[in-house]
Amino acid sequence: MTDPITLDVLKEKLREWKGCELHKTANPVLGEGNPKAKVMFIGEAPGQKEDELGRPFVGAAGQFLDELLGTIALKREDVYITNVVKYRPPQNRDPTPEEKEQCMPWLMLEIALIKPRVIVPLGRHALGHFFTKLSITNAHGKPQKLMDNVTAFPIFHPAAALHNGNLRQALYDDFMALGKYLKEEKIS
Ligand code: URA
Repeated sequence: MTDPITLDVLKEKLREWKGCELHKTANPVLGEGNPKAKVMFIGEAPGQKEDELGRPFVGAAGQFLDELLGTIALKREDVYITNVVKYRPPQNRDPTPEEKEQCMPWLMLEIALIKPRVIVPLGRHALGHFFTKLSITNAHGKPQKLMDNVTAFPIFHPAAALHNGNLRQALYDDFMALGKYLKEEKIS
């Protein structure tokens, strides 16, 4: 019998994988957090700090994400945090459609392992993975049914608020709405 797939196994396999050209210029960054998390946050791609440390959301956007989680009494250890693309694109450029597609199996495996009740796409790249016709501007802060027992709750990317002060309040408001939704649905 083969060993069951765990997050550690996934991490190991990602290290050996060469299915995305970005592996030549960056380090692999799988998600991390509670393997039994009910809530999964999905960003775009690792940045410089994430590439250096091999961990998601540990730079400036990650610090803001930690703060936002705190506003609804959640800690990183309570949730699972990952990205669509598993490597830093050079100079932090947007990931290409090919890179997003190539990395997709890793995200699907993470979702299959964690089995979250709520998926929080952070920004348009992650939202586009689930809903090709929704825009983040219209869909943010509102639950969007994905399937029985799994809801997406899109939120702006925290890095966007670092460059655009107007988005900061929208992120606080969206996290408040997320906290309310989790409470109403008795998800924690
Ligand atoms: N931005 C992302 O989308 N992901 C990270 O891990 C860090 C910054």
